[in-house]
Amino acid sequence: MKKDIKKLTDQFFAVCPIGLEEILAEELQNMKISEFEIRKGGIQFSCSNFKAIELILTTRIASRVYKQLFQFEIQNEKNLYHHAKDIKWKSILTPDETFKITTIQNRSQDGKKWSGFKSPLFLSQTLKDALVDNLRNKYGERPSVDKDRPDVSIILHVEPVNDPESKKEMATISVDMCGFSLHERAYRKSRTFEAPLKENLAAGIIKLTGYTDQVLIDPMCGSGTLLIEAMLIRANIPASFMRLRDYHPDHREWDFQRHTYLTKDKYLLRDLDKLIKDLQKQVDIGFTNLKKLKNQFIANDNSNDSIKQFILNLRELGLVSIVQIENQDAADFAPSNIENAIVVTNPPYGDRLGDKKELEELYYKFGENLKANYKTCDAYILAGEKEHLKKISLRTSKKFVLYNGGIETRLAKYELY
Ligand SMILES: C[S@@+](CC[C@H](N)C(=O)[O-])C[C@H]1O[C@@H](n2cnc3c(N)ncnc32)[C@H](O)[C@@H]1O
Repeated sequence: MKKDIKKLTDQFFAVCPIGLEEILAEELQNMKISEFEIRKGGIQFSCSNFKAIELILTTRIASRVYKQLFQFEIQNEKNLYHHAKDIKWKSILTPDETFKITTIQNRSQDGKKWSGFKSPLFLSQTLKDALVDNLRNKYGERPSVDKDRPDVSIILHVEPVNDPESKKEMATISVDMCGFSLHERAYRKSRTFEAPLKENLAAGIIKLTGYTDQVLIDPMCGSGTLLIEAMLIRANIPASFMRLRDYHPDHREWDFQRHTYLTKDKYLLRDLDKLIKDLQKQVDIGFTNLKKLKNQFIANDNSNDSIKQFILNLRELGLVSIVQIENQDAADFAPSNIENAIVVTNPPYGDRLGDKKELEELYYKFGENLKANYKTCDAYILAGEKEHLKKISLRTSKKFVLYNGGIETRLAKYELY
């Protein structure tokens, strides 16, 4: 392998929704991962393979975890090909495995320059050619591409080096240890519901409210993602509980199960087996405790369809009986016995023409309702439009900017007294 290709060990990158980096950092700290650097939309960190796998199995916030393998500087696609052709690809995949390559272009680490390559697709294509040529030379046959669920998902990151005079970019080659976005917890039965929050964003919002064991109310609950994520947090149930329950070593849930750093390390396999068993126990204890809770979760929505979707999700989890569910206008909804409760909700964004006035009215009336009927509570509203929040005549005590996919949203906090 060329000398200027750096082989990386114990280096990882966890991706998360923009705005939740600090919450993800707390998760790392709780796991005693202390070497990390916060970037926009994720965290670069260093730890053992075991710790990285533990993060994947337990994180509520990360959407992916990449294991970084090789790094080198490039100036053009030709450089990329020549360096990449020299990599020991056989340590990553064999000709009988399928693969996919995704290129992600970033800003330089000092934030001053964007990656100058015109086409991420062309970079992926170039890297694919180098990989295929390398393995064909070695084995006489090549692995094939599978865009949907490949055995190995390879990520190429390119970002300009910090030097403003240099045209060079740093190329990092990683494998996706997950194989799907970790926000897909798999408890959602409601495929038809229109605007659910991603589960990791919902969990992050609950964390930002400082929720521990207060009564939790969502007056516009939709399919109930905020409440369900709060239940999991309350009962300390790992976010990947559905996959942990289904786990079998021969069946792939996460991509790391197929990667050689795991399959060739009998000690890591043994430790993983123990970790899975411990987490499975934690899931069982969590659900047993959760089912004993009464009057702790209150949901409301004015749409019958939304409530049906929420109930479908709760049924999947065996948790229908622990939620009080109402079907009223949020402008009037006023539950009793809610002292010091947390109200958290995500009203509609409004894409339809004519929505604007209707939504402004909803925000205004909901704000008035909070003022009158939710004294002693803290309320958190996630809004897609700044203008909507202005209709609430309450003083904002905190604001967080969060990204829901590509949409910039604001989470506003109101202290009601
Ligand atoms: C963006 S969705 C909430 C999504 C939810 N957080 C989830 O993850 O599934 C907004 C919800 O507000 C409800 N809604 C709209 N206007 C309402 C009103 N006046 N009163 C109560 N609910 C309302 C809609 O039916 C919809 O379910």
